[in-house]
Amino acid sequence: ILDAPFRPLDESEAAALLPGAVSAQRRILMCAPDHFGVDYVINPWMENQIGRAALPQARAQWDNLRARLAETTHLAFVAPTAGLPDMVFTANAGLAIDDAVVVSRFHAKERRAEERFFRDWFERHDFSVAPWPDHVAFEGAGDALPDRAQRLIWCGHGWRSSEYAPALLEKIFDREAVGLRLVDPRFYHLDTCFCPLSDGWLMYYPEAFDEASRDRIEALVPKEKLIAVGEADARAFACNAVEIDKRVFMNDCSPGLRARLKAAGFTAVVTPLSEFLKAGGGAKCLTLEVHVKRSRGE
Ligand code: ARG
Repeated sequence: ILDAPFRPLDESEAAALLPGAVSAQRRILMCAPDHFGVDYVINPWMENQIGRAALPQARAQWDNLRARLAETTHLAFVAPTAGLPDMVFTANAGLAIDDAVVVSRFHAKERRAEERFFRDWFERHDFSVAPWPDHVAFEGAGDALPDRAQRLIWCGHGWRSSEYAPALLEKIFDREAVGLRLVDPRFYHLDTCFCPLSDGWLMYYPEAFDEASRDRIEALVPKEKLIAVGEADARAFACNAVEIDKRVFMNDCSPGLRARLKAAGFTAVVTPLSEFLKAGGGAKCLTLEVHVKRSRGE
């Protein structure tokens, strides 16, 4: 040791030596389906499904997703609340980048009561909650997806979030926000039809967007990195996927899509979520990427 040449510590090494040092850890925020159900209709998938989600099966599917994700990443949990059946869809809690968060301002009045529980969670975990105007609807990471290669946020509007949300997000997070208009009511949140993957790949269902938005996507993502999915995969919520270290977790995946993902360097991991599809949500909707500050040793 005495012979080792002197080398200055880098920032994280130095931070780790300080007592009470704080670092941020990437986690996926989930909410257990204790109170999940289809109790009202706010998207086309919920039509004729009131009371039809099988709860034991939903619990088993959610447990399986949680277990599969836990193999590759750290998780965090927000407590479920009685009377808020859609709170399982933590993608709609807000959009968190580093330690800043915009808490959702739901368009769907049935979901407004969730806002304060999500806000509490973010506050308790030391996020700085950005001010947001009450009259601008914004449904969080359901409609705002940071690109994984470029410094920009893709923003969906047309059904739930306001077309004015991108301009506000741009200021708050200091990065370009690209607005995309959603035109198919089945794909009412951006994350139901659009999934930025690492290394700049993009899996999406082009028909869910108006022409100007499709042009914008094609102008910003190189053609060879676009993975356009067909209607059957889109309907099976294949784009509603969570990617962690090149593993792409999703409700279902056709052999053709699996092969295309593989050629791009990704492995499709199917975790069936039929009961949540009845509420209009899949793997991505059930998760939210957050960076949680923690004391060393937590
Ligand atoms: N029933 C929920 C709603 O309509 C489903 C939310 C799905 N979440 C998502 N990020 N796409 O709001």
